[in-house]
Amino acid sequence: MRSPYEALTLAFGDATVPYLYGTDCAAALAGAVLDRLGDLDAILFVADDRVRGHADAVAAELARRVRVERVQVEAAERHKTLPTVQHLLEAAVAGRLTRRSAVAAMGGGTVGNIAGLAAALLFRGTRLVHLPTTPVAAFDATVSLKQGVNLSAGKNLAGTYFVPALIACDLAWLSTVPRTDLLTGLAEMVKNVLVAAPGLEPKLTRALEGLDADPDRRAALRALLEIGVEAKAPYVAADPREQGAALIFEYGHTAGHAIEFVSGGRIGHGEAVAWGMLVAAEVARRRHGLAAGDVAAHHRLVSLLGLPDAAVRLRDLDRDAIRAVLAKDNKRGYGPCAPGEVLMVLLDTAGRAVPGPPGGPPLVPVPVPVVMDAFETVALNALESV
Ligand SMILES: NC(=O)c1ccc[n+]([C@@H]2O[C@H](COP(=O)([O-])OP(=O)(O)OC[C@H]3O[C@@H](n4cnc5c(N)ncnc54)[C@H](O)[C@@H]3O)[C@@H](O)[C@H]2O)c1
Repeated sequence: MRSPYEALTLAFGDATVPYLYGTDCAAALAGAVLDRLGDLDAILFVADDRVRGHADAVAAELARRVRVERVQVEAAERHKTLPTVQHLLEAAVAGRLTRRSAVAAMGGGTVGNIAGLAAALLFRGTRLVHLPTTPVAAFDATVSLKQGVNLSAGKNLAGTYFVPALIACDLAWLSTVPRTDLLTGLAEMVKNVLVAAPGLEPKLTRALEGLDADPDRRAALRALLEIGVEAKAPYVAADPREQGAALIFEYGHTAGHAIEFVSGGRIGHGEAVAWGMLVAAEVARRRHGLAAGDVAAHHRLVSLLGLPDAAVRLRDLDRDAIRAVLAKDNKRGYGPCAPGEVLMVLLDTAGRAVPGPPGGPPLVPVPVPVVMDAFETVALNALESV
């Protein structure tokens, strides 16, 4: 009989992680988690409050064969903190987890990161199962070993790398994500294709166009998962800590973070990264000869995200504040960068980053005024005509 799910194997350096995915296969996935983890005495089942419906079914299926201790978490950046991690660790110990137990994280990237860090710390490392329920988590965050929480000074400042035992995703879980929350994952897929897999543009275009046409979005979501994993997998295999070649997935995040931060939350992460990619393309066009056809590919794909007009979204952002955020960009320290410059991932052609210093990550220093000029071009929505 045909398996109700498909199985990929992700490599992170020498470590390998099975990734099981399918549609309407939650019970089979729960069974597979138990079969593959083998000798298991309990599961700390950490679930996002908003996926209770999906989580109840999975927890019930797991509970047929193993003791399940449930903890609900509100998925919000303000709760992605060390006290929440401690709360999970205390629940694990109070719930009599042992070194034969596992932590399951069911939710988006927020819950995945909180529970992922807890799994890394519990008994100095407990088996971790990711059950991603958002596009960001399914296509991006779980294809990464990074587990981190926020400090008062900024996002993801405390964390570690941790290899999960297994990732399992029923794409039906993703079908309840609101359209605005979908956008983040879709923008990251546009980024993955532009930087690492330009040959997948037709598949991505079909998936993005199919999302709204298909009421339950399942075929499109499956294609997006495959695009995310296919683009990112070779990079995390070779660079599991994402401090070298895999830093290309920071594409669009330099200007993007500044736009997101200065907008005070009005512009979400996905939209900001989309504008950030257009800014990066404009910088690369001017300084590294990115061809007009590749710039046009950026516009084609970003336009499929259905964003409002760039001019309307960007014109009121405080330019001095953007300059100030760029000056403190968190990629500082990865390579040489003079005061007044910012390190960026740039493309010299779609699918190929401008190299950084020999042996270093693909980050190039760009004077902040050049970034601001490119930002103004994007904000004027005049990129096509320059
Ligand atoms: N390498 C990494 O570890 C990595 C990569 C990318 C992002 N992240 C982190 O991931 C987080 C963002 O993840 P996200 O975009 O998944 O956001 P999220 O986890 O905050 O989820 C977004 C919203 O969707 C809700 N939700 C989740 N699944 C749902 C479902 N199936 N149906 C309905 N609602 C659902 C959540 O409750 C939340 O309100 C950030 O904290 C980011 O730092 C980590």
